[in-house]
This record gives sequence, C-alpha cells and structure tokens, in this order.
Amino acid sequence: MSASNSPCTIHVGLAGLGNVGAGVYKNLDANRDLILQRTGADIRVKRVVVRDLSRPRDVAVPAEMISTDWQDLISDTEIQVIVELIGGTTTAYDLVCAALRAKKIVVTGNKALLAERGQELFALAEECGVPIYFEAAVAGGIPIIQVLQEGLVGNRILSIHGIINGTCNYILTRMSQAGLSYADALGEAQEKGYAEADPTLDVSGWDAAHKAIILASLSYGFWIPTSCVHVEGVDKIDIADFKFAKRLGYTIKLLSVIRADEQGLVEVRTQPTLVPLSHVLANVSGSFNAVLVNGDIVGETLFYGRGAGQDPTSSSVISDLCEAAAVIVYGARHTGFVPHGLYGKSKPAEETISHYYLRLTVDDVPGVLAQVSAELGRRNIGISSMIQPEDLEDTSGSTSLVLMIHDAKLGDMTQALEALRALKCVRGEPSWMRVETLQS
Ligand code: HSE
Repeated sequence: MSASNSPCTIHVGLAGLGNVGAGVYKNLDANRDLILQRTGADIRVKRVVVRDLSRPRDVAVPAEMISTDWQDLISDTEIQVIVELIGGTTTAYDLVCAALRAKKIVVTGNKALLAERGQELFALAEECGVPIYFEAAVAGGIPIIQVLQEGLVGNRILSIHGIINGTCNYILTRMSQAGLSYADALGEAQEKGYAEADPTLDVSGWDAAHKAIILASLSYGFWIPTSCVHVEGVDKIDIADFKFAKRLGYTIKLLSVIRADEQGLVEVRTQPTLVPLSHVLANVSGSFNAVLVNGDIVGETLFYGRGAGQDPTSSSVISDLCEAAAVIVYGARHTGFVPHGLYGKSKPAEETISHYYLRLTVDDVPGVLAQVSAELGRRNIGISSMIQPEDLEDTSGSTSLVLMIHDAKLGDMTQALEALRALKCVRGEPSWMRVETLQS
C-alpha cells in the first residue's frame, strides 16, 4: 500500500494523562499530518482513562472522551491500540493482560511492569499473537530498544554501560557542578518533572535497574530475575566523595552495567560508580541519558539524548504507535520480545568483580591503616592506591582515608565492609562505590 494514498485510521486508547500521557496527546496532535504522510496511518486518541477527573491537566481533552474506568478502553471495539502510562505493577498488569486478550496492541512506558512481570506478559502476548511495544520504558527519548532489536540484531552484545535515570543524573550533576545538597538537587529534579511520582524508585536506583533488566533481557534472550541484580541508589552519596573522585581523575555517575562473561553468565548492576573524567560518559550531564553498547561486530556505539521529561518520552511512545500502525496496516511482526538461548544464566551479584573506591572516616592515630588493610587482605582484597588528604582533616581527631581497591568480588567487599564497620577506629558509615575504567 502506498503510504500517501490510503490513510487508515488507528484508534488509540490512552490510559494515564500525567506528564508523559499529556505529551503523547499533545505531540500526536501537533504532528498528525507528518505522521500520516510517513506511515499512511491517521493515529487518533479515541478515549482517555485517568484516575482522578478533577486533577488539572496539561492538555484540554473533550469531556466525553475521558472516564475513570480502564475497562472502557477494552470494551471499545474500535480501539486497536492501548497505551499504558499509569505506572505501577498491579492495575497496569491487569490492563495489559486484558488488552492482549482483547487482541489490542499494547504500548507501554512501564519499566517496573516489564522488569518484574515481562516474562509472563510476553508469554501472553505470544499466546494472543499481539505485540507489546515499550520504547518509552528505557532512556526516555533515545530509541535504544529499536537499536537492540533491529540496528544491532546481528551482534552478540558484549557489554552495555548506561546512564539511564535522568533524575539521578540531574541530581549528581547539580551536586558535582553547583555543590548543591542532595535534597536541593532532588527538589529541582522533581520541579522539572523528571522524577517518578514516587521519587524513591529513582533515587534508590531501581528505576535504572528496571531499565537495565529490560536491556539485558533483550540482549541475552531471557528475563533476568530481579534477585540477581545488584542495585544501590544515589541517596547516600556525600559531597566529599565528589571532591575525592575529582582528585583521583573521576566523577560519580549512577551507572548500569550489563555484560556477559566468557562462560555466558550475565551480570546486571546499577550503582553509583566512579567514571574517568576523560571518558565521554563523564560528560553526560543533567537529565541526559547515554547508553554505550559494545557489539562483537559493530564495536562501541553510543546513544545519547534526553532520558526523561514529557516531550522526549512521548517521542518514544509515538514511535511505538507508528510501529503498531504498521502492524495493523501491513501485517504482524514479532511480539516485542524474542527469547533466544545463547546465554541463559544470570551471574550471582556477589560473584561480580570490579575495582572499588572506599572512603573511611577513621581515628587519626598510628596503626589504623594496618588494621584496615588487614581486614581487606584477609578477604584477598588488594589496595592499589591510597590518599589521606591533609588539607581536609578536621579537628575532631578523625581523618578521611580514601582507598582504591583492585579487582574484588562484591561478596568479599560486602564482608570486608562489615568487618571494617566493626573496627573501633572506623567512625560512621564507610562510603564505597564501584570504579569503571571503561577501557575496552
Ligand atoms: N524518572 C525517570 C528518570 C523517567 O528520571 O529517568 C524516565 O524513566
């Protein structure tokens, strides 16, 4: 069919009219003619479902189009595609299942839903012969799902390093560049609409971890269980760590790392990480995201763009709507996730190996370093360098001790930290982070 001479109307049901939902409604309307010319489809929102009718909205939707019962989207036989932007893993799950059973294509930006229940949902999608599209679930406006599913489909994925939470990247950038406190930086990120409704998901690292699970599952062909993912948030990072990191030639990013080892064991982790200042990822600032994908044929590729916010995220939803329209107009493709069996096992988090940064506040007395290094050495953890900055010493008889640690297993590090906390000469909570040298 020629895209220009046989327009086909695609009726869409939109669940959720928050930040992203309003962006989809607004931008779909603004670019309707362009999308029609490019796809041959006139994509129209027919119904919208919201939780609270009285809430003020960014867009004016005719009253007769809105209701509060998501079943209205299912029972409307004209609706062919349902966009799920309500978030959460309960009602959203019921809605997606009902949509698939009613043979309606699903578009979702819900990373928590896919990371936690993707396996069941894609099995149902397969059974019903209806696809689920989810470009908006990872990295906002960056089309990274299409990159993995299409652009790099011929590659074995060797590793992925991603800055994939805009809120955390905004917070860390403001702490690092403007010296803001964690609380003030979070407040700014919320004002700008980057954070999830409950920012705990962002700052705990779980929003990025959910996205990492999706990227890893696409790359390695099986759903990674959340229990095998090591996750730490940004809420405990002290401004002092930025100063030490800088002295050592690094900055701090919430980095998600995905890679398979030589045995095919897949590691997935999201945690604050020291990244060399000279590396391109160190310069990804504000709410921007970046995903560095290393494929065995293509080598290193980098994808950069806005990872959160109304317009960038709605761009990805609209891309999925166009994909859905193509399926309706031209016929079926895959269901959104193609399981494959080259790898198949998750690496237990405690077995993952990395360099580490460790900052301790210790009594400023002789013998302390020996006690600390003994606890590390007992667990086969070697120190590669150490600084005890004199200019930052306080007058309370304590001092900072900053150690860079050789390759260590996470399990050994965790045990060593427990032992260090128990030492009388160690005050307060140790601050520790992974270090990525990012050399291929
Ligand atoms: N809260 C998310 C972020 C939005 O900050 O990246 C996009 O998932």
